Amino acid sequence: MENPVAVVGGAGRIGRLVVAGLLERGEEVRVLSRRPRGVQSGAEPHQADVRDRQSLSLPLAGLSAVVISVEPGTANSGPDSPEATMYQGVLNVLDAATAGGEKPHVVLVSQIYVTRKNHPINRTGRMLDMRLAGEDAIRRSGLPYTVVRPSWLTGGRGGTGVRLEQGDTGDGEITRQDVADAVVQSLYSPAARSLTFEMYNTSGGVRADWDDLFSTLTPDSH
Ligand SMILES: NC(=O)c1ccc[n+]([C@@H]2O[C@H](COP(=O)([O-])OP(=O)(O)OC[C@H]3O[C@@H](n4cnc5c(N)ncnc54)[C@H](OP(=O)(O)O)[C@@H]3O)[C@@H](O)[C@H]2O)c1
Repeated sequence: MENPVAVVGGAGRIGRLVVAGLLERGEEVRVLSRRPRGVQSGAEPHQADVRDRQSLSLPLAGLSAVVISVEPGTANSGPDSPEATMYQGVLNVLDAATAGGEKPHVVLVSQIYVTRKNHPINRTGRMLDMRLAGEDAIRRSGLPYTVVRPSWLTGGRGGTGVRLEQGDTGDGEITRQDVADAVVQSLYSPAARSLTFEMYNTSGGVRADWDDLFSTLTPDSH
C-alpha cells in the first residue's frame, strides 16, 4: 500500500497475527495499544487509547488502512464500558484517521451475536448493542470498509475449512489465525469492500481462495 497501515489493538492476539501478515507483505505498520509491549520488530509501536481522541492523532494520520481489533471493557458504564471502547472508541478512530482528508480502508474485528439482543453477552454493558453501534458508524462512514464478525475464538493454526456467513444466525468457532488472514486479505481484495460477515471453521474441507470466499457474499446496502 502507498501509505502505512495502523493496527489498533495490534499487540493483542489477533492484532499480532494481523501485524505479522502485513509485515510479510512489506507494509509499513503502526501498532496502537495502551501498553505497546512485545510489538514485532519492523512495526512501529504507539501508545494510544481509543477512548482518548488526542492520543490517536499522530499514529492515525496519513494512512492507507486501519484495522481495529480492541478488547472491549466490561463495566456497565463509564470509561471501562463497551460504549466507551466499542462505540465512542470507533468514532474516535474514524475521526482521527480522516482528519487530514484521507479515506483509509477500515477493517473492524467485531463478533457474532451483535444483532441478537437477548443473548446473555448483551447483559454486560450492552456489549452487543455497542459493538453494533460501532459497526454501524463504520458502515455509514462513507469509507471503504470490511466488518469481520468472528465466532468463538480458538488458538492454533486451523487447517480446516472456513465458512463465511451473513445474517448473524450461526454459532461455532474460528481460529484467530483465520480471522487475521481474513482481515489482511480484505485489504487487498476489492470483493471484500462494503462486506459484513461472520466466520466459522468447518470440520473438513480445503480452504477456498479468499477472493472466492468474499465474492460469494452480498455487499451491505446503505
Ligand atoms: N473471545 C472470543 O471468543 C471472541 C469472539 C469474537 C470476537 N472477539 C473479539 O475479537 C477481538 C480481538 O480478540 P483478541 O483475542 O485478539 O483480543 P486481545 O488479545 O485481548 O487483544 C485486544 C487488544 O486490545 C487492546 N486494547 C484494549 N483496550 C484498548 C483501548 N482502550 N485502546 C487501545 N487498545 C486497547 C489491548 O492492548 P492494551 O491493553 O495494551 O491496550 C489488547 O492487546 C476483540 O474485540 C474480542 O472481543 C472475541
